[in-house]
Amino acid sequence: MQLVIDTDAGVDDAQAIIMALTTPGVEVTAFTTVTGNVHVSHVNRNVFTVLDLMGKTAPVYPGADQPLLPGFWEPEERVHGQDGLGGCQGPARRHHRLESEPAAAALVRLANERPGELTLVALGPLTNLALACRLDPGFPAKIKQFVFMGGTMSGFGNTRNVTAEFNAFCDPEAGLITLEAFAEATMLCWETTIQHPFSWEQYDRLAAIDTPAGRFFRDSTHATAAYIRQFPQVRGYLLPDPLAMAIALDPALIQGCEHAYVTMEVQGTHTRGQTVIDRLGVLGRAPNTYVVTDLDTDGVYRMYERMLGA
Ligand code: BDR
Ligand code: CA
Repeated sequence: MQLVIDTDAGVDDAQAIIMALTTPGVEVTAFTTVTGNVHVSHVNRNVFTVLDLMGKTAPVYPGADQPLLPGFWEPEERVHGQDGLGGCQGPARRHHRLESEPAAAALVRLANERPGELTLVALGPLTNLALACRLDPGFPAKIKQFVFMGGTMSGFGNTRNVTAEFNAFCDPEAGLITLEAFAEATMLCWETTIQHPFSWEQYDRLAAIDTPAGRFFRDSTHATAAYIRQFPQVRGYLLPDPLAMAIALDPALIQGCEHAYVTMEVQGTHTRGQTVIDRLGVLGRAPNTYVVTDLDTDGVYRMYERMLGA
């Protein structure tokens, strides 16, 4: 698998990246970065931090520093800390250089160089992907598999627009453009995240793994785990981006999904950024998205044991 990871890393993005970097048979061809959880300048540094931790290298293309429409974005420091990695920057890092090519241009070029070969996993706001679709309308058709973390399937969101999930909330216009452009996408939404946590016992076992990756997991998730534990509706440690990455790497983990036309609400007093799923086909549009509703969390747990070096 040749994988391109678009990320706003991000504590859970970091885990998804470690998962990809440690899965046999996966070549991480490139990272593209985007403002989301934190500003893209932090995201760039965080990707290098994770690469260093895992002793890997890959080109990192700097992406959009703000959503298509300014004025709505705000960082998610409650969950990810001011630096985006829960204050866990690890040891002094090697010399790294960002690529000079902007993310959207790199996405278009890579897809042209390897048509039908790339798996694209998007873990943040879809700003870079929307720009790539506008640069080259043929871009989506050259992607082999497109998986994204974002959206809601029943309006249970996690932002101040209560029906919107964070990545969609950050850049709804980009979500709209991207969903309209891809004939086929796989969506890992917020409700599926809520319904498929690790139990706190599983979390504690993983946080006790005494390897560099295990210690990074423990330290970078410390504040996030404390934050999540405040919410009685949440039954354990949540895995938004890691679940998206897991199903991209191993689609056999998917145990249920709906296939429907999905688009994005870009207006609405309370609903800007809500994904709209046309289950009855009233809009007369062909289904464009597999909305994952159920998956094998124990299989994902086994991936974590392996990637943290248990
Ligand atoms: C998504 O928003 C970010 O905070 C996470 O990294 C994840 O991509 C969850 O809503
Ligand atoms: Ca993310």
